[in-house]
Amino acid sequence: MAKSVGPLGRREFVKSSVAVTGTLLITKPETAFSARANSTVNIGLLGCGGRGNSVAGDFVNHTDAQVTALADLFPDRLEATERRFNELQKKKGRSKVSKTFQGPSAYLDIVESDVDFVLVASPPCFHPLHLRAVLDAGKHVYLEKPVATDVRGCMEVASLALKAEGKVSADVGFQIRYGSHFAELTRRLWDGAIGDITCVHGSYFAGDLPRQSAPGMSPAEAKMRNWVFYRALGGDIMVEQNIHIVDAYNWVLKAHPLRATATAARKVRTDIGDVSDHWIVTYFYPNDVRASFMSTQFLPTWGSVAWRFFGPDGFSVASYSENLNIQGKNPWVAGADTTDPGKKPEIDPLGDATPLKAQAFVKSIKDGEFHNQLKQGAESTLSAILGRQAAYEGREITWGELLASDQHWETDIDITKLG
Ligand SMILES: NC(=O)c1ccc[n+]([C@@H]2O[C@H](COP(=O)([O-])OP(=O)(O)OC[C@H]3O[C@@H](n4cnc5c(N)ncnc54)[C@H](O)[C@@H]3O)[C@@H](O)[C@H]2O)c1
Repeated sequence: MAKSVGPLGRREFVKSSVAVTGTLLITKPETAFSARANSTVNIGLLGCGGRGNSVAGDFVNHTDAQVTALADLFPDRLEATERRFNELQKKKGRSKVSKTFQGPSAYLDIVESDVDFVLVASPPCFHPLHLRAVLDAGKHVYLEKPVATDVRGCMEVASLALKAEGKVSADVGFQIRYGSHFAELTRRLWDGAIGDITCVHGSYFAGDLPRQSAPGMSPAEAKMRNWVFYRALGGDIMVEQNIHIVDAYNWVLKAHPLRATATAARKVRTDIGDVSDHWIVTYFYPNDVRASFMSTQFLPTWGSVAWRFFGPDGFSVASYSENLNIQGKNPWVAGADTTDPGKKPEIDPLGDATPLKAQAFVKSIKDGEFHNQLKQGAESTLSAILGRQAAYEGREITWGELLASDQHWETDIDITKLG
């Protein structure tokens, strides 16, 4: 890790990201969709796994978009996804999937195919490479989080944000910001419902994840299919999964953390990979706001995910599974005709998040009012990496020190031999 250069502000963050990565041109902005505003939006899905199927399904179910091209390393993923979207789109009177691309260079084929946007849902280690290919082809992009696994990758994405600006729409998969209840809670906090935020606490207590290996797979294929358990492929749990809570902290506080201390370990899930199975992080935000965070990813059942903001006039509770609420001088309960926070949930807190995000993204393309969430996505990913590195190194790390580190991770898998 390089010597500390002090915390960098947002402007310096963008400047330094350009310095690190140089320039990258978007070559075909004229393909922007707004020129044919009433047509159906064609989706290219790059990475046909769980999340790609889920988000593309939300696009098909909640907008008039259709999946016309698929790309993946592995044929079984392509076949299952093609079948699924052909059935779904037939029911909706839309087209069939017309192109499938398989193998390590499938990402280059799909970006050049006749699609309006590419939904990048490949493992995180590929995100900067895949994002750059989409933008070089002049296509709109919906990029899943995290935007990268390392600092250099985040800087490249921040640089690409400058090049995408005004030319294409670029979303990043932080759907919580679009969930109607989360958005209302945040608006209330910004309006002062609990006074100036004093401190924050959050937790992500998750169950273990299924192993994806099958008999007969090569070690490299088994590792790639189990990418989430490997630091260099997924970024580790703090960055891959827990990032949603760090993003929520940044969103509400309108800032990124200035420094972090942390600890993490592997104690329960030791049969696979090299990621930690529990995390304890303390972030220090501007205005002397301290935010603690704890997570697990080894429980035999699903746990719970929640985060709380505390202020002199009360506190707020945001959760994946309970009624969102504010308690104190300005009480509020999401979706309930009551101010009783103990009342049984009447909402699915996350239910409308991805559908609303999908609708807003398609609208941005059709209206020509392009989103650009790449810098924010890079900032949230760096914030999660800050906590991760503080744990790995067992010491406090500052934002400026992290950005100056130019940390770069290589994977040890030769993907030209896969797929
Ligand atoms: N926003 C959210 O709430 C959310 C939820 C889950 C996952 N995610 C993110 O979505 C992404 C995908 O996660 P997932 O759970 O779907 O994983 P997954 O393993 O189920 O799917 C990944 C797919 O990408 C394919 N792939 C791997 N390398 C590839 C390459 N080089 N080119 C083309 N395809 C390749 C795999 O074969 C697989 O089909 C990750 O970044 C993850 O963090 C986001």
